Amino acid sequence: MISALRSKDLLGIDPLEPDEITLLLDTAESMRPIAERPIKKVPALRGRMVVNLFLEASTRTRFSFETAEKWLSADSLNFSGSRGTSVEKGETLLDTARNLQAMSPDLIVVRHSSPGVPHMLARHLKAGVINAGDGAHEHPTQALLDALTIRQHFGKLKGLRIVIAGDIAHSRVARSNVFLLAKVGADVVVCGPPTLLPPRVEELGAVATTDFDRAVEGAQVVMMLRVQLERQRRSIFPSTREYFARYGLTSERMSRASADAIVMHPGPMNRGVEIASEVADSPRSVILDQVANGVAVRMAVLYLLLAGRPWEGERDGM
Ligand code: CP
Repeated sequence: MISALRSKDLLGIDPLEPDEITLLLDTAESMRPIAERPIKKVPALRGRMVVNLFLEASTRTRFSFETAEKWLSADSLNFSGSRGTSVEKGETLLDTARNLQAMSPDLIVVRHSSPGVPHMLARHLKAGVINAGDGAHEHPTQALLDALTIRQHFGKLKGLRIVIAGDIAHSRVARSNVFLLAKVGADVVVCGPPTLLPPRVEELGAVATTDFDRAVEGAQVVMMLRVQLERQRRSIFPSTREYFARYGLTSERMSRASADAIVMHPGPMNRGVEIASEVADSPRSVILDQVANGVAVRMAVLYLLLAGRPWEGERDGM
């Protein structure tokens, strides 16, 4: 099947051209009204099969891919963790994927704790592969849904001051967002304690700082990241209390941002560690809009990879 993107796979934001990002965002925008309908189903991907291979925990990404597949009428197989499968008996990931491939899926959506797993599967399998998060490497559909949310709010991405703050070093969300936002001309600042800023992060296309109060000044978007305690092999800050004092997003800190600034978080949130509840639940928060946009973005990705042409509402049963 020909893809409307330049590849059979979506492995990251880094390889995408700006016109592919625009096509994905425009397609997601035109699919959003499906969520408002009493019957949320179009026949666009009837007869297509998608395998959701989630070998690392997920709530938002997994359920929004499943929702997107249902709304587009695709059939799906859901593989969540290794329990109950032959991975428990020692079957390798590649053997598992080759066996799934033998059932002729059109796409495999994969989340894994090791960077590069989606790329390895894409090289070996005929089916298209979508990266739903690989270690600290990339999370392309998260960056796309974040960009869609920002574009809906400001009508543009270019020229906005966007601060991404927190655990940059362990964050695939930060990497994919920096790639995307730099490609579309936003001014991106990444901020965190020195131990959570990776070396040479500025080569990705962002300005780096450890001063959160200064970073927030005049920002239009403040995107907080979860402190990924499970990926830290050594203690990199003294206590969560101290972390919150220096890098937690409070109402006082948000008052330094632009008057029309929005607050984002990819989830799951550590309330009281990287973000105060009063900010997460405030009118400036677009955190649940991000989740809703996740379904539209994943519909757009599935459709553009499988249909081989841009979305035409009427022809696709809109
Ligand atoms: N944002 C995100 O990837 O959330 P999940 O881990 O719940 O999928």
